[in-house]
Amino acid sequence: MASRITIIGTGYVGLVTGTCFAEVGHQVTCVDNNIDKVKMLQAGGIPIYEPGLEEMVKKNVSEGRLKFTASTSDGVKNSDIIFIAVPTPPQDDGSVDLSFIEKVAREIADAMTEYKIVVDKSTVPVKTGEKVAETIKRYNKGNVDFDVVSNPEFLREGFAVEDLMNPDRVVVGTTSERPVRAMREVYEPFKAPIIITDINSAELIKHAANSFLALKISYINAVSIVCEASGANVEEVATGIGLDDRIGRRFLNAGLGFGGSCFPKDLSAFIKIAEQLGYKFDLLKEVQHINAGQMDRFIKKIEETIWVLKEKKLGVLGLAFKQNTDDVRMSPAIELCQRLVKEGAELRVYDPKAMEKAKDFLPAGAQVTYVDDMNAIGEGCDAIIIATEWPEFKELDLEKARKDLSHPILFDGRNLFDPKRMEELGFIYKSVGR
Ligand code: UDX
Repeated sequence: MASRITIIGTGYVGLVTGTCFAEVGHQVTCVDNNIDKVKMLQAGGIPIYEPGLEEMVKKNVSEGRLKFTASTSDGVKNSDIIFIAVPTPPQDDGSVDLSFIEKVAREIADAMTEYKIVVDKSTVPVKTGEKVAETIKRYNKGNVDFDVVSNPEFLREGFAVEDLMNPDRVVVGTTSERPVRAMREVYEPFKAPIIITDINSAELIKHAANSFLALKISYINAVSIVCEASGANVEEVATGIGLDDRIGRRFLNAGLGFGGSCFPKDLSAFIKIAEQLGYKFDLLKEVQHINAGQMDRFIKKIEETIWVLKEKKLGVLGLAFKQNTDDVRMSPAIELCQRLVKEGAELRVYDPKAMEKAKDFLPAGAQVTYVDDMNAIGEGCDAIIIATEWPEFKELDLEKARKDLSHPILFDGRNLFDPKRMEELGFIYKSVGR
């Protein structure tokens, strides 16, 4: 049965969630307080790059299941279930800024005249749901009945539509019967296992899951240091340990470390949450430490090979924080570029999707040149650096690159090439952990 759903916040999570809900037949209203964004969406444009999303938005808008508005109160009135998907940005001390959540809770309370289910999709510290419930109760004038549910989102950027349409699991945090029934109806078309738990556990599942994945990446990065020091190959080690299905091969790719708007933030938040609850989560501090060290070690590798960076010309492939996205927030590739520029290097940079967004983070002027063609990256350069794991970089014209470079040096921060083949092609090839 179709549910009437409103999603507040049309960022990555809100927009993709709303669109996928519409795709399976629900009636969806997406609310955003940014009027320009709402106008853009109403006109069929989308503010982010996400494979498959644009077509899906257009289809569902034209078939009348998806609409956009800037009015929270319209959204609340027209729906039975209201999802909160607003940003929860990090603060300087690592804790999470919950002011957008609090504001939306007040707005919902203000507009609510009959029973509603309020679902938090944003990543929030454990016990936030309790606060949301208190806030709605306090600001709702009519003493209207409602339930608050935690329903964390696990989508990956670049695979958001795929992840949402085929979730590994759906987590629903609530102890009341009525919202459980409603949430089962919302997710029934997705045919995924639904875990019903209490609200605090649901909130904690998100931070614990993301921190574990970050830990897995830091673990393999630490192993890569031992591999380099011993002459072993981290890819072989990852395959060997990953075939044990208690471990699994995914998220065991060594490289420049993890970035993006989730792992760094969620890790800091989880450390802070634990600290506030009286536990020093030093294991996770080490995860952060290893991650930061990956970048230092990679830059050292570049310096050991080409010595002084001042006035060197370097071609950098990749600016996004990972493949399949135009997102550059907390991108290791951007940090690398910033540090190389600071050392006085001149950069030629290329990314399939993220060049526009990168311009806000890299210095304007002659020190950074944006290149349209991946195969032109090495022209006039002293070395090429791979900073993001875009699969198309594996198709780089290596013959041309070798001829374009003053010396055939390639630093691969994402282990995209086979070291033996690179050596045969005449490259000085440095990757991570092998
Ligand atoms: C992550 C979680 O995967 C997702 O479930 C959650 O909802 C949000 O956070 P996302 O940040 O979109 O998703 O990207 P993800 O694919 O997880 O990659 C995160 C970072 O880890 C990237 O910088 C990537 O390059 C890096 N990474 C990933 C590695 O360095 N090695 C790996 O093996 C995997």
